[in-house]
Amino acid sequence: MIGMNRKNIGHGQATGKIILMGEHAVVYGEPAIAFPFEETSIMTTIESDQMMTLDCQYFCGNLAEVPARLKSVQKVIYQTLAELGQENTTLKITINSTIPAERGMGSSAAVAVAIVRGLFDYFKTPCSPETLLRLVDEAEKIAHGNPSGIDAAATSGSKPIFFIKGQPLELFPMNVSNAYLIVADTGIKGQTREAVSDVAHLFEEDKQLAAKHITELGRLTVQAKQAILMNDVPLLGTSMNQAHEHLKALTVSNKQLDHLVETARNNGALGAKLTGGGRGGCLIALVDSKRQAEKIADSLKNAGATAAWIQSLEVKK
Ligand code: PMV
Repeated sequence: MIGMNRKNIGHGQATGKIILMGEHAVVYGEPAIAFPFEETSIMTTIESDQMMTLDCQYFCGNLAEVPARLKSVQKVIYQTLAELGQENTTLKITINSTIPAERGMGSSAAVAVAIVRGLFDYFKTPCSPETLLRLVDEAEKIAHGNPSGIDAAATSGSKPIFFIKGQPLELFPMNVSNAYLIVADTGIKGQTREAVSDVAHLFEEDKQLAAKHITELGRLTVQAKQAILMNDVPLLGTSMNQAHEHLKALTVSNKQLDHLVETARNNGALGAKLTGGGRGGCLIALVDSKRQAEKIADSLKNAGATAAWIQSLEVKK
């Protein structure tokens, strides 16, 4: 009996993520470094109901009638139920999130991760990492067009990763003493889908030029990895600064991001760059003391950032 396999409530969880280095280039096979951002997270609750219902910040009602922005959520729910052989079930899915949407923090991947986990939990079925990433990838194709998979990997894990598309996940010992990142929100919706597709257009228009920036971004990610392993905070900062210039050349920055990146640098950041899809969303800045981090967070807010978080790069043992 199906009912025997059920429990009353299923729970799923995922965190936001920050891409330290390598966004956009990662779509073309270059490496990227990312880590789960535990300051922001998402929880799903699954329970039995009369019909398939979704309850979240943007919509509450029949799952079949969700607005366009929730199509990827709808798809991951249907596909996960198909995977579980539970297509005819009726459930209420509640989503509670503190991950700002469309800010380069991977909220679309995180919501998919939390939904898949919640549904598997509801049906008391173990979910392998491969199944989880495959189901999330399908949803991300709707949200992003051509996802590298980095968001799914970073929002579903608990450790920093060195990520290359299509390759097994490499956990990355990001443990830099006296290094802090300020994550600041421009308050403007990012446009990951458009930015990813515009980089693809650049490739069609001038392959050599686009490839040059992508390759350089890959090289800078490797350099950042070495800087982290050697505890060389200034070199990590330089790599970040240079990466932002290449991302700018790929047209994925915008005025507000550039203004806040500049503000962070003028206030003593060792490096600053956009993070995630760009064209809005968040930027990150690197400093070597908590006091400096607080000072820069304040100056970014004074310069227009709507929120700022401080994240130590020293991994708690
Ligand atoms: O904007 P976000 O948080 O979804 O990050 C997108 C990262 C990209 O490299 C731009 C795209 C991808 O799929 O890797």
